[in-house]
Amino acid sequence: SDKKLWGGRFAEATDGLVERFNASVGFDQRLAEQDIRASLAHVAMLGQQGILEGAEVARITGGLQEILTAILAGNFEWRLDREDVHMNVEADLRDRIGGVAGKLHTARSRNDQVATDFRLFVREAAQNLAQLTRALRATFVAEAERHLDPPVLMPGYTHLQVAQPIALSHWFLAYAEMLERDEGRLLDAAERMNESPLGAGALAGTPWPIDREATARALGFARPMRNSLDAVASRDFALEFLSACAILIAHLSRLSEELILFSTFEFGFVTLPDSHTTGSSIMPQKKNPDVSELARGKAGRVFGALMGLLTVVKGTPLAYNKDLQEDKESVFDAYDTLSIVLRLYADMLPKAEWHATTMRQAASRGYSTATDLADFLAMGGLPFREAHEVVGGLVGLASRTGRQLWELSDEELRAVHPLLSAEVASRLTVEASVSSRQSFGGTAPDQVGKQIQAALERLKEH
Ligand code: ARG
Repeated sequence: SDKKLWGGRFAEATDGLVERFNASVGFDQRLAEQDIRASLAHVAMLGQQGILEGAEVARITGGLQEILTAILAGNFEWRLDREDVHMNVEADLRDRIGGVAGKLHTARSRNDQVATDFRLFVREAAQNLAQLTRALRATFVAEAERHLDPPVLMPGYTHLQVAQPIALSHWFLAYAEMLERDEGRLLDAAERMNESPLGAGALAGTPWPIDREATARALGFARPMRNSLDAVASRDFALEFLSACAILIAHLSRLSEELILFSTFEFGFVTLPDSHTTGSSIMPQKKNPDVSELARGKAGRVFGALMGLLTVVKGTPLAYNKDLQEDKESVFDAYDTLSIVLRLYADMLPKAEWHATTMRQAASRGYSTATDLADFLAMGGLPFREAHEVVGGLVGLASRTGRQLWELSDEELRAVHPLLSAEVASRLTVEASVSSRQSFGGTAPDQVGKQIQAALERLKEH
């Protein structure tokens, strides 16, 4: 183990257990590319500002590029005694180019360095997840389109009790809407975090005549951060990313729950593809929705990542504290988890087989068109509350005698209200119910068709 880069004031070697506890290189080596990009921008700026000489800039730049190549090729020795990604790169640079490497850290601290690296990483992660979310959204819209002609109908639920019939396409679009907002949240977060901490120094800025605009521009940031304390102390960019991830996986978890239910023998609405289900080692008949169960379960990890980082940050005084080193693993984990879950669903959904007959039948049970009957009476002039009462009585009568609403006789209907006759039965079919719901955003197939077209248009944008 060589002398620490910060070893000047220390007389005794670091305790072995402390070294292991303190080191982050095991995970923050994932920031190597960002770290080197930021160093390249920094050293170029130092040259432009006349802080370093051209020859020094050239040697440092060449060395950093060599290191990046070595890292990408897997030829780099990551050393625990060099603590973190930043000092691994810098110490390796010194091994390669000698003492001039020591000038790289002029007008910089690991505090603004790590904040910069991490922002670069999280910005890209947010953009990548937004892209994958968009792809899944497109899948939902395509599935909505595919099941609209002829419209596949299903029961809509509240309290998991049959409520009113809906089009399956309407259900697909509901998820497309959630995903569209999720995509927006990720992109908003990427936009808000797009400011450069580089040049904030340890916390107070620097006496060197640096050009923060130049390094910000070189790294694709919109501008430098305005306050050096905030720049090194704040992790709300990571929190915002994790919040967007948590909401996104909450949506995917609800989807998972529905697919798990809908694929049971008892529901029988959907058969999930063999490629995305698994068997049992003892029960030969089993086909288990493991992908959906894991997606639902992994929501716990992502929520945990958000709660974990909120808890890390909440008690830390300004500016940097080593606690903040705990910001990375949870972000990496949430990012990796969502990348895979989003891809799995985009592959899986188009291969799911929906059983229109079973769903149509389920949609007609549970007096799902009772509201249609109440609306019919109310459109005939009865106040809706009274109509509700009348139909409630009919549902009671039908369920006591084991019948559907359309199986009640003319006399039974007329006895309850003169507006009612067997003729209204035609209004109580699942098809009539669904196609009558023409209000904006409603489930009538023409409405859903319009929403699909609008969703396709929005997918064409940018
Ligand atoms: N590995 C550290 C982190 O991830 C880098 C910053 C260390 N700064 C310091 N003053 N110890 O937070």
